Amino acid sequence: MHKIVDDFSKTVVVPEQGIRLASEPEPKVREKYINELDRVLITKGCLDARIKGLAKEIEQGFADVDEITCVVVLKGGMFFAADLIRVLDERSKLRTRLDFIRCSSYGDRSYSSGSVQMYQLDAIDGKNVLLIEDIVDTGGTLKTLQNYLREKGKNFKTCVLLDKGIASSVKVDFIGFRIPRVFVGGYGLDYAGMYRGLPEIVVIKKELLK
Ligand code: XMP
Ligand code: MG
Repeated sequence: MHKIVDDFSKTVVVPEQGIRLASEPEPKVREKYINELDRVLITKGCLDARIKGLAKEIEQGFADVDEITCVVVLKGGMFFAADLIRVLDERSKLRTRLDFIRCSSYGDRSYSSGSVQMYQLDAIDGKNVLLIEDIVDTGGTLKTLQNYLREKGKNFKTCVLLDKGIASSVKVDFIGFRIPRVFVGGYGLDYAGMYRGLPEIVVIKKELLK
């Protein structure tokens, strides 16, 4: 049974079985993915609710500025950022710009290779930067990105949707959900290129991971 959550004003700690809103039915994995996915971990309702909470935290975190440049880490951060930035523009005082960075360390495997390749980014010199990433695992990727961006941006903060809680060495200003140490997909996150389009966060079956 999924745990029912009703407070989305701060980082939500997600138990092994997953979470849902009281107004949502007990979530199930879609039939077509039944052999690959173990369970739904975070429902769409919970993602939407937490993004509204995150937008408030971000507005408070950037209290002294009126404009931020959101730098989205592709590809995984894409869906999260698209929703978050629209909520920021709709509900906060912040004016937003959008930019992308690409960074790859996983390839088709479920563990980090440790080396990070970085691709392109427009000029962010002197800007107030919000780095938006899907997930922190070991923290290697985020640390590399932060080191690269921090010296360029003026006021630099980081927001991640999911945190597996093992990256003690990396500082994250805004965290959506703290999740158990399972491999997840959906809502932009993939395993070997799959599951990005699912509207919820799902747990991938252990047998599938290499
Ligand atoms: P590190 O270990 O560098 O890893 O913090 C962060 C990057 O690895 C990817 N990652 C995942 N992707 N499900 C995914 O789809 C996961 O459970 C997962 N864990 C880590 C992600 O791209 C992130 O940028
Ligand atoms: Mg990523």
